[in-house]
Amino acid sequence: MNPAVRCQNVIKVYDTGGQKVTALNGINLDIAAGELMMLVGPSGCGKTTLISVIAGILDQDEGSCEVFGENLLNMRSRDKLNFRAHNIGFVFQAFNLLPSLNAAENVSVPLIINGMKRVEAERKAITVLEHVGLGERWTSLPSQLSGGQQQRVAIARALVHSPRLIVCDEPTSALDHETGRNVMTLLKDVAMHKDRTLVIVTHDARIFDFADRIAEMDDGHIIKVKDSR
Ligand SMILES: Nc1ncnc2c1ncn2[C@@H]1O[C@H](COP(=O)(O)OP(=O)(O)OP(=O)(O)O)[C@@H](O)[C@H]1O
Ligand SMILES: [Mg+2]
Repeated sequence: MNPAVRCQNVIKVYDTGGQKVTALNGINLDIAAGELMMLVGPSGCGKTTLISVIAGILDQDEGSCEVFGENLLNMRSRDKLNFRAHNIGFVFQAFNLLPSLNAAENVSVPLIINGMKRVEAERKAITVLEHVGLGERWTSLPSQLSGGQQQRVAIARALVHSPRLIVCDEPTSALDHETGRNVMTLLKDVAMHKDRTLVIVTHDARIFDFADRIAEMDDGHIIKVKDSR
C-alpha cells in the first residue's frame, strides 16, 4: 500500500535579504496511513518547515513530497486548495484563530469552505468543541479564551472536516499535563478508529507514549526514526 506521506530528498532554503538558511537538507520520510508519527528536535531544526511542506502550505525547492499519492507541488493552486480543504487538517504553532469569529465559527471554517450550510456547520463545530472540553464556550471569541483553550479550538478546527491527514505543530504546548493527555487521547482515538494519519511536532516528552514512531530531526536532517510500538 502507498504511504500516506512520502518525502524524497526534500530541500528547502529560505532566502531573506541575501542570507540563505537551509531549513530542510534532504529529507526522506515515509509515513504510513493510520500512523501517529511524532517529529522532535531542537528549536530551528526544521520541524515547522517540514510539516508546512507536507501540508502544502509551503513549496520546497527540491525533492518531492506526496500526500496520498498526490504531488502538491505540481498542482494548480485551486486544485491544491481543494485537496487541502478535503484531506488535511492543520494545527498551527501560533493557533491562527480568526479574532473576530467566536469558537464555533472558527471551527466551522473548514466545513463552510467545503460547502456546508452555516447552521449545520456550527452545529457540527459545537459537537467537536464538546470533544475537546469546550462545549460551554462556543460563543467566546479567541481573546476571551486562555492560551490552552485557544489551542483546543485550533485542534477542533483541524478535526471538524474529518481529514485523512492531521498535522499538528506543538498541539500540547499551552496545555497542562491532564488537558494535554486528554487532547492526545482524542487525537489518538481519531487516528486509531478512523484510520487517520497524524503528524505531530512536539517538545513535550509527556506525550511521547502516544506515538507509533518518533522521527528525530537535527539541522534540516532526519537523524533517527524510532519505533515506539
Ligand atoms: N520565513 C522564514 N524566513 C527565513 N528563515 C526562516 C523562515 N522560517 C524559518 N526559518 C529558518 O529556518 C530554520 C528552521 O525553522 P523552523 O521554523 O522549521 O524550525 P522548528 O524546528 O520548527 O523550530 P521551533 O521548535 O523553534 O518551532 C530556522 O533556522 C529558522 O530561522
Ligand atoms: Mg516550529
